[in-house]
Amino acid sequence: MTFMQHSMQDILSLLQNTLQTDNTVIFNVLNPDLGEGYAGNQIIIDKLTYIYRGYKTWTDLAELLMCRMHTPKEAEHPLVTLRFEKLDTQSSFHHETEDPREEKYGVNSHFSQINKMEEPAFLYYYQQALHNAKLNEKSRVLNLGINTGDEFSVIKNSLDTQKYENMELIGIDHSKTAITQAKACFKEENVKLYCHDINKLDTLDLGKFDLLISIGTLQSPSINFKPFFMSLVQNYLEKDAAIILGFPNSRWVGGEMIYGAKAPNYAMSEMSLLFNDVIFCKKYLQQHKYRVTLTGKQYIFLTATKIV
Ligand SMILES: C[S@@+](CC[C@H](N)C(=O)[O-])C[C@H]1O[C@@H](n2cnc3c(N)ncnc32)[C@H](O)[C@@H]1O
Repeated sequence: MTFMQHSMQDILSLLQNTLQTDNTVIFNVLNPDLGEGYAGNQIIIDKLTYIYRGYKTWTDLAELLMCRMHTPKEAEHPLVTLRFEKLDTQSSFHHETEDPREEKYGVNSHFSQINKMEEPAFLYYYQQALHNAKLNEKSRVLNLGINTGDEFSVIKNSLDTQKYENMELIGIDHSKTAITQAKACFKEENVKLYCHDINKLDTLDLGKFDLLISIGTLQSPSINFKPFFMSLVQNYLEKDAAIILGFPNSRWVGGEMIYGAKAPNYAMSEMSLLFNDVIFCKKYLQQHKYRVTLTGKQYIFLTATKIV
């Protein structure tokens, strides 16, 4: 297939039709390096008219079609050949496991193969949230659902050694294997890691914190999100505390972080639950005199800082 003047509406339906039966679809388009500006601009080359689209358009389309885009190959001037290959939808940690509930995210799980910190769309907004929460001024940090500790590694790498060593970082997770691995990575005395159910946080008698972080955890089925969140704000935060919550707005499919929340009872991504929980937290925190920002894309980061 060669698309010179086809509209995106035509291209989308042609590719969708092919992918219903084939694993791969190959097509030629105007070399994106030869144009600029908005997608849909018309460009005339050697008296022929082409519609310009940049690589972002094509990678977005590949993601929407649940495909991986291969390296484009130069074709007859001024075209390039694009190849979209369907992602392996069976290769995802979202599928049920036979592991006990606590080990769904343990070191032997499919989830443990994911390294979010290698995904710029995650790392960028997490670092921005740490900056906005004034990490530099914090001394006691609580992370709920710490897993193997990646979120603490970013904190450690972004602070100077003396500041880091003067902080106390506490991470909780009910996965024994994840906490064992985290303990192997953080041998320093200022980091304490507990294998514990966060529903029973009170039994650890941890005191108060000036930074609370919880990413991809509070919406877990084992946690009664809203009452749990309110009790955290009431009982675990110092007066000038900051909060960073990460809400997944993506699914992991075939190794890729695909935009859009996974929703029960829907084949497509659906974001009602996500918006409901995020707005609940935002309103609750604003009532308690926090300034709240929402950022991110595949993960929505809620960052709250106390208005003093
Ligand atoms: C989706 S993972 C997110 C892990 C990590 N924060 C990240 O974003 O990569 C959720 C984590 O919360 C933990 N978790 C879920 N429910 C829990 C509970 N009731 N008590 C303690 N940990 C829990 C899981 O074991 C898992 O490590």
